Amino acid sequence: MQTLVVEKDTDVRDFLPLNGTDHLELYVGNAKQSAHFYKTAFGFETVAYAGPETGLRDRASYVLQQGKIRLVLTTPLNSEGLIIDHIKKHGDGVKILALWVDDAYQAYEETVKRGAVSYQEPKTLTDEFGEVRTAGIYTYGETVHLFVERKNYKGAFMPGYVAVEGGYKPGGTGLLYIDHCVGNVGWNRMNEAVKWYEDVMGFKNILSFDDKQINTEYSALMSKVMSNKNGYVKFPINEPAEGKKKSQIEEYLEFYEGEGVQHIAVATHDIIQTVRDMKVRGVEFLSPPPKAYYETLLERVGKIDEDIAPLQELGILVDYDEEGYLLQIFTKPVQDRPTLFFEIIQRKGAQSFGAGNFKALFESLEREQELRGNL
Ligand code: FE2
Repeated sequence: MQTLVVEKDTDVRDFLPLNGTDHLELYVGNAKQSAHFYKTAFGFETVAYAGPETGLRDRASYVLQQGKIRLVLTTPLNSEGLIIDHIKKHGDGVKILALWVDDAYQAYEETVKRGAVSYQEPKTLTDEFGEVRTAGIYTYGETVHLFVERKNYKGAFMPGYVAVEGGYKPGGTGLLYIDHCVGNVGWNRMNEAVKWYEDVMGFKNILSFDDKQINTEYSALMSKVMSNKNGYVKFPINEPAEGKKKSQIEEYLEFYEGEGVQHIAVATHDIIQTVRDMKVRGVEFLSPPPKAYYETLLERVGKIDEDIAPLQELGILVDYDEEGYLLQIFTKPVQDRPTLFFEIIQRKGAQSFGAGNFKALFESLEREQELRGNL
């Protein structure tokens, strides 16, 4: 059975205090067009920009925001360098999971001391709006945690970026903040990754699922949820498990050519409105579960505030735990490789991740996988 372990060990000093997610940086083949997609389809706005016009010769970056969510879309401007190498290998994907800290130098020192591999030594960036201090370490695959300290900064994003005002603004879809970001790791790598988050970052494993709990007729996976001490940052980690056919995690690892971020879960206070809006704007979601899922929904989850009809119409899933329930839905991959996708989630008390929906979700994922010839 799933058990949610919440330890109240506030007397132990947190050596890596985190205020939340600062931003996610994606390396993409065409940042200008990706920005248009995330604005039109997801409802983000461009708030800052860096590129040739600001003195960069090798790349362009668009900073998009909605609620507290910041996405940085970066593309290379020539055929040489780490960004193009990353895109050549992985396709479009998340390079940086940036964490908001009060002291980037200390975050770096504490994590490197505990075994983190350095990505970027601490540095201080300054402009007329103040200073931002950053430092970075590698996590799974080529993915990076960048520590960002911005308490002495008043600018749009960071020194080096100019604020963008006006321009194309199709309006938001009610997305508020990042709820969790999930990583896929390779065969037998789960425990190593879990231990890394425990030892290096001081995270706790708050929830675990094995392949007996997460399986369909064809495939299985294991998942462990890692949380930082105050619970502001949660990173579930998936590992494939043996099944009759290839699991979605294996498909991801094959097409991403390694470990990386599988999905970004973003929160809303009105999932029905958000999903309805996103569908009109062209976001593709996984196909809804069979009718039977909704016919027996209330028996499974108990009383909910929402009507069943719109949930069924949109394919929104519901799960529950001891503390309440949650509503969630998953997009199809947002690029041609079957890699990164998004989850839209609305929590009504529940602090878990929708394990009760895994079977329905995976059967839906497998239908897509089969269409791609990868099952
Ligand atoms: Fe999720």
